[in-house]
Order: sequence, then structure tokens, then C-alpha cells
Amino acid sequence: MGRIYSLANQKGGVGKTTTAVNLGAYLAHMGQRVLLVDLDPQANATSSLGVDKNALSRSVYDVLIGSETPASLTLVTTCLGLDLLPASPALAGAEVELLNVIARETRLRHALQQVSGRYDYILIDTPPSLGMLTVNALTASDGVFIPIQCEYLPLEGLAQLLHTIELIRQRLNPDLMVRGLILTMYDRRTNLARQVVQEIHDHFPTTVFQSVIPRNVKLSEAPSYGEPILTYAPDSPGGLAYEALCQEILSSERI
Ligand SMILES: Nc1ncnc2c1ncn2[C@@H]1O[C@H](COP(=O)(O)OP(=O)(O)OP(=O)(O)O)[C@@H](O)[C@H]1O
Ligand SMILES: [Mg+2]
Repeated sequence: MGRIYSLANQKGGVGKTTTAVNLGAYLAHMGQRVLLVDLDPQANATSSLGVDKNALSRSVYDVLIGSETPASLTLVTTCLGLDLLPASPALAGAEVELLNVIARETRLRHALQQVSGRYDYILIDTPPSLGMLTVNALTASDGVFIPIQCEYLPLEGLAQLLHTIELIRQRLNPDLMVRGLILTMYDRRTNLARQVVQEIHDHFPTTVFQSVIPRNVKLSEAPSYGEPILTYAPDSPGGLAYEALCQEILSSERI
């Protein structure tokens, strides 16, 4: 059975999608079988991997409402070993439609059980909210990676996210763990970035990954070419940082 991890933070633009796509690519490159599930109606992970979201007739939305299986909609990507269960704009409706269905919080968990034996890792990219889609992602997951943008003091929003994770652990998924905090968009020239890193380490010393992702323009360019940083600019500071993060994650899994 593969491990299932969500990338979650209800704050927008913190690097959830960038981290999901690039971790997925590096994990696959390091020999892992990976499925990336795009659970965000913005479908940024889907387009970052070169798939036109508007051309998709079906997506993870159809899996959530139970009309398709994940295996029937999974796409191979240009990265060997990395598969994609894409999102489409229809997913925006799921947030409301799921409110009235039975077992609404566990739809994704049950769907992913059908394919988890085929993968070493399933990564779920989530939207910037704590609504029904993110609840489905967290209920399906063994753990959650929380990207933290080093440009805002995050503690208040983080407390709310950790509270949600605790509620899901109590009511829906006792196995859910915080797998780690990932510091993103770090610019060492700014005092604020250093302050954020200090604050996070003071409050969460053991759950922060040592590999810090710098702010790097190559990381923001790669999605428009439909490529992960691994193929677009592997030697860039952003590429090297995601490679190091991936190694750190893999070695911490083996403990
Ligand atoms: N380390 C980085 N350096 C430079 N740009 C970055 C970096 N990480 C992400 N970006 C850019 O910042 C923007 C937000 O990143 P991303 O889409 O990964 O965040 P997100 O948390 O998924 O956002 P949303 O909440 O809207 O889904 C994107 O344009 C992305 O290309
Ligand atoms: Mg995103």
C-alpha cells in the first residue's frame, strides 16, 4: 500500500501546488511510483504538468461523485513514474454537491483505496480553503505536508489548520499525522524571511524539514512550459532545493 500525503494550507499562494508537482517529479525520478491527485478546481497542478484542464471531459470530480474510478481517469505524464489524476473546473461544484451525499468526507479515501497498491506515493494537492475538498484529502491521507511561505508570519493561520487536522484525526481519520512543515519562497536578504524561519523553528522544532525552498524565478516559470523543475531547470536553486527536500523526505521515511 502506498503512502498518501496531502499538501495543505488554507492560505493561498504558499507553494502547495509547486511543492506537490516537484516533489512528485523528484520522487518518481528517484524510483518511486507516484500518483499526483489534483483536488483543486483551479487545476494548477494539472496545467503545470502540461495537461489542458479545459480539454478534459472528466476529472477527479467524476471520481468524487462516484461515476468513474480513479484508474480509468489517470493520465501518464512526461515524467516517467509520475501519473496524474487531473482536476477540471467542474470540481468547483463538488464543494457544494458533496454536502448532500452519504459519507461525503470519505469519498476520496474509498476511491484511492482502489489504486493505492499500484503506487509508493499518492500526493494530493488541495485548494486554499478548509472546505469539503480539503477535508476529503485529509481524510484520505496518512499524513500532511504543510508548505509555509516565508513572506508572511503564519502562526495564526497555522493554528487554524492544525485545529482542523486535529478534528479530522478525532472524527474521521485517527492515523492522520503532520508529516512536516516545508518552508517555501525563502529570500535570505529579507528580515521577514529570517523571522518566519525562526518563529517556525521555535514553535515546531521537530516537524520542520531542514531543506528550505528559496524564492527562485525558474520555479515560477516552469509551469507555463508544462514541466516540473526537474526537467525545466534541474540545476537552478529551486531544482536543487526540491531534490534535497525529496531526499530528506525519503530518508526520514526509512527511520
Ligand atoms: N519557491 C518559489 N519561488 C518563486 N515562485 C514560486 C515559488 N513557489 C511557488 N512560486 C510561485 O508562486 C505562485 C503560488 O505558488 P503555488 O501555486 O505553488 O501556491 P499554492 O499554495 O498552490 O496556491 P493556491 O493556494 O492558489 O493553490 C505560483 O505562481 C508559483 O509559480
Ligand atoms: Mg495550488
